[in-house]
Amino acid sequence: MELRQLGSLALKVSALALGSTKFGRREGVKYPNDFALPSDGQLADLLALAKDQGINLVDTAPAYGSSEARIGALIGGDEHWRIATKVGEQFVDGRSQFDFSPGAIRSSVERSRQHLRRDVLDIVLLHLSDDDTEILRDGAAVETLLELREKGLISAVGASTKNLAAGLEAVEQCDLVMITLNPADQTQLPVLTAARSAGKGVLIKKPLDSGHHGNIADALAYLVQKPGVGSVVVGTISPDHLADNCAAVRRALAHD
Ligand SMILES: NC(=O)c1ccc[n+]([C@@H]2O[C@H](COP(=O)([O-])OP(=O)(O)OC[C@H]3O[C@@H](n4cnc5c(N)ncnc54)[C@H](OP(=O)(O)O)[C@@H]3O)[C@@H](O)[C@H]2O)c1
Repeated sequence: MELRQLGSLALKVSALALGSTKFGRREGVKYPNDFALPSDGQLADLLALAKDQGINLVDTAPAYGSSEARIGALIGGDEHWRIATKVGEQFVDGRSQFDFSPGAIRSSVERSRQHLRRDVLDIVLLHLSDDDTEILRDGAAVETLLELREKGLISAVGASTKNLAAGLEAVEQCDLVMITLNPADQTQLPVLTAARSAGKGVLIKKPLDSGHHGNIADALAYLVQKPGVGSVVVGTISPDHLADNCAAVRRALAHD
């Protein structure tokens, strides 16, 4: 699997990454079908397969239920893995709660270091809600993450954004940005160009429109070939789908 530098960061990540919402949360998600959370054994096998295929980045968040803690227990101590996590959203009693205050961000980073069993977190993103542009423009949340980066607790700081304005703002302020991009949703496409000229990294979320997109190989080929895309984060708990996705990405990059 091709490794790519994320913008001007010293961080190299695989062109395909593993999304982990389904590792720890079943409620309030937008997938087409219900599913059971994987067992510890199934998760260990999935992560071993991903590593074997050359994937080195997994994306998680406190809002994904037990995902962070399960990932920490299985691969926290494995230096092969880069782990991206988030701050600002928690999922409590079936509902999302948002808090981007400096105190909440510091506590969240502390919990993530414990859950992920890492002294230094590779990537921490603001897990932005619908009013994401205001949170970025206010500045306090990014500033808090930058302070934690200065203290050496985080390597790279970014924002997972929901609209174009926020994506562009995140490019200005952060080391990297996570955007939604798939054949059905191109709203944030201009963020790629902006990030490239600014030397910032880009992670793609919902690349298969959260499982609603039909032609998976075409969607992955389109995304991994796009200039400026660092890593395409596909959520899966299926070893067969993971292997298919790796093969699709390899085929697409071989034809580049
Ligand atoms: N606000 C945010 O920051 C945010 C929001 C959304 C997502 N994310 C991150 O981005 C990741 C990806 O987004 P996502 O999980 O919403 O959606 P996605 O990656 O677009 O799609 C995931 C869905 O596609 C299915 N799938 C994957 N590969 C497949 C294949 N080869 N054949 C058939 N089905 C396949 C998965 O089912 P199977 O499990 O059966 O393979 C799953 O239901 C998330 O896991 C999360 O890490 C972040």
